[in-house]
Amino acid sequence: MSMNSSAPNQNTFAITTPLYYVNDLPHIGSAYTTIAADVVSRFYRLQGQPVLMITGTDEHGQKIQRTAEALGRSPQEHCDKIVEGFQALWDQLNIRCDRFIRTTSKRHEAIVREFFQRVWDNDDIYLGWQQGWYCVSCEEFKEERELLEDHYCPLHPTKQAEWRDEQNYFFRLSNYQGKLEALYQERPDFIRPDIRRNEVLSFVSRGLQDFSISRVNLDWGFPVPTDPDHTLYVWFDALLGYVTALVDANQEPTLENALAQWWPINLHLIGKDILRFHAVYWPAMLMSAGVPVPGGVFGHGFLTKDGQKMGKTLGNIIDPYELVGRYGSDAVRYYFLKEIEFGRDGDFNETRFVNILNADLANDLGNLLNRTLKMVHKYCEGYVPAVSNDDIATDDLLKSKGLTLGQEVADAYTSLSFSQACEAILAMIRAGNKFIDDQAPWALYKQGKQAEVEQVLYTVLEAVRLAAYLLSPIIPNISQAVYQQLGFEINFNSPESLTAYPFTVHAHWGALPAKQALGTPEPVFRRLELPT
Ligand code: MSP
Repeated sequence: MSMNSSAPNQNTFAITTPLYYVNDLPHIGSAYTTIAADVVSRFYRLQGQPVLMITGTDEHGQKIQRTAEALGRSPQEHCDKIVEGFQALWDQLNIRCDRFIRTTSKRHEAIVREFFQRVWDNDDIYLGWQQGWYCVSCEEFKEERELLEDHYCPLHPTKQAEWRDEQNYFFRLSNYQGKLEALYQERPDFIRPDIRRNEVLSFVSRGLQDFSISRVNLDWGFPVPTDPDHTLYVWFDALLGYVTALVDANQEPTLENALAQWWPINLHLIGKDILRFHAVYWPAMLMSAGVPVPGGVFGHGFLTKDGQKMGKTLGNIIDPYELVGRYGSDAVRYYFLKEIEFGRDGDFNETRFVNILNADLANDLGNLLNRTLKMVHKYCEGYVPAVSNDDIATDDLLKSKGLTLGQEVADAYTSLSFSQACEAILAMIRAGNKFIDDQAPWALYKQGKQAEVEQVLYTVLEAVRLAAYLLSPIIPNISQAVYQQLGFEINFNSPESLTAYPFTVHAHWGALPAKQALGTPEPVFRRLELPT
């Protein structure tokens, strides 16, 4: 088997977010990727797979050094402070990461040195001369034609790129053009979605140039192992954070240990602006070091606010702390995944946010459960009606939807089509509301048709249960409230608890046990209101 085609582990699932720069506290863009990675991790955990979700911080480089200086802090002091802010936000968003890697850690330095040595021994590093325009905010050299007038960066329109003319070490990326092209060919889904894949294919087909991997006149970073007068380029060090993250806390930080269990990582989730680093530079670096490449890279789109690009100078930044503080973690998670097709650019608008949450979760889902439970308490003494699933016809409107929903939603999660997963689940919930209106169990009850009443109520409760289970990667707290009111003792936030509720049973129609005692009906999601 060629190195390119070595498939990632099928029985375990390792996923990464980018390692975020700590020049500032996390913004909504970092929250977006991290929420998505958490949802994917939860989906695989729900299926009983061992999962390793990796996030962390990218702490070296000129950008961080300058930010720290401007604030009168030492770079390390600054990083330590900002990192706390990241960890706090992930907690608030109910994100469960298994590894949090900081690129300033000692163990990371050991991995970087060993990796550098392998690439060096492979003769892929040489000393050369670098001239060009460098955007410190991107930490990237830019072609003159990529920049705006007066060398302002299009991604950071208030920052001018700086001219550099210095000796740097280079990585022989040009050696890997053919190998990369073969990789993209052999693994068409290595870069997703297609629009990103095409971008990379066209970039690579224009010819790859070696890129510089060291800087002079910069202290904040690891020294180049073979020449301490140079500091390693922040991206060379940062990408390797994904490898260091795999070393167990009690293990020696060696490449052998790092690569023993979870490598190749199944999926790198990133934003579209850092695609080249992940889909071109990174696999080439790995090939050079003789390490198999990861399973794939998915580049999501950019968020705007009220249709406008966000920026500090524009003063229209969405503060993720404020958002989650005001509306809660499930609401924030749901909005970004349901409302924006993953892979495309998307917009945040607070009125739409409130309307969608109220319509989908408070009205459609919450009311359906609430009214049904109340009827079960009234007509069936608060127990799941003793209806056998076989009694419900397979062409029953809800059951027939429910029978295929699990597979449909699993496929959607697997292809990272979160909004599609939500839509499919919502369609069943809406059908449930229509079903109960049409069947009118209150009228059936008055007519003394107890068996029919029980069948209708069972069917609706089962539909709500299935919906809650399938939505649990996105809105774990609401799913939990639903499950508890249905009489289950689950904790969707605890992987151990999930083993008693396997996907093979609960993602399918018919898992609600007859005669189970039901909880007290309470709203699972309180209506949101816009701040006045
Ligand atoms: N440190 C590098 C990543 C190194 S990975 C080994 C980095 N960090 S970052 O903090 O600047 O960016 C993190 C992520 O935020 C990127 O994936 C980027 O795409 C994403 N976003 C930044 N602004 C964004 C939006 N407005 N919308 C969506 N995501 C955006 O790059």
